[in-house]
Amino acid sequence: MTQLDKKSLLEWYIEAGVDEATADAPVNYFATAPSLRGDVIDEAIQQAPKALDRVAALATTSPSTSTLHHSPAAAGAAARELADACQTLEALEAAVRAFDGCAIKKTANKTVFSDGNPKARVMIIGEAPGGQEDIKGIPFCGPSGLLLDRMLAAIGLDRTSVYISNTVFWRPPGNRQPSIEETGICLPFVEKHIALVAPALLILSGGTATNTLLKKDQSISRLRGKFYDYSNGYLPAPIPTTLMYHPSYLLRSPLQKRLAWADLLMIKKHLNDKGIL
Ligand code: URA
Repeated sequence: MTQLDKKSLLEWYIEAGVDEATADAPVNYFATAPSLRGDVIDEAIQQAPKALDRVAALATTSPSTSTLHHSPAAAGAAARELADACQTLEALEAAVRAFDGCAIKKTANKTVFSDGNPKARVMIIGEAPGGQEDIKGIPFCGPSGLLLDRMLAAIGLDRTSVYISNTVFWRPPGNRQPSIEETGICLPFVEKHIALVAPALLILSGGTATNTLLKKDQSISRLRGKFYDYSNGYLPAPIPTTLMYHPSYLLRSPLQKRLAWADLLMIKKHLNDKGIL
């Protein structure tokens, strides 16, 4: 392979979102090339129609699994069916881990479900796992997590007094923002997650969590500094909810930390006034 080939291969990887090597040991895919002989390829081509027949047969006999990949709506409906059936956090976690309907799971290393105390009275929902989270399987364990921990500590909170999750459970390739389809597919799980934790205060971190759950299209700058009632079909009553700038935005725009500090003080006052902590 020439230097130019290597460079364009790397550029193609980056464009496709492959921006880091995450396995423990390198895999030499060139070592497998000799097995791709012409006769092997011919056999694979001959087998393909049979494989397609098997998929078609499965689609008619098992609608809840086979429709997953046909459309985001079908995947969302399957997620809803699963979420409806989960009566405990353990069941929900198992259902999310087993769920194959969200395409970003295929490129992720780990399912990132939650961290913190499931009995906490404060629940924080972020956007999506990033690189570190994808390696460790823990939400907010990278640079933005460090800032989140410092923000929480400033008002006397830590991971024993909060519970943390995200709007999607897998890292989008290249750390891009999850698409509306991806957040839509995961939404039933997120809604059930909130209902099973039943926090006294829900905090949405960043625009993706805010738009997905509060279904408001305005910017965080317009929405911040207030409390909202959050409801979903699993909740017996609305949950007081507020939002704050995402820590990774604050890392990029440190001047906004002033406003984030005001929001943290508002949260602390609410927790004290309502006797939540
Ligand atoms: N950003 C998020 O929104 N969530 C994480 O878990 C990590 C970074």
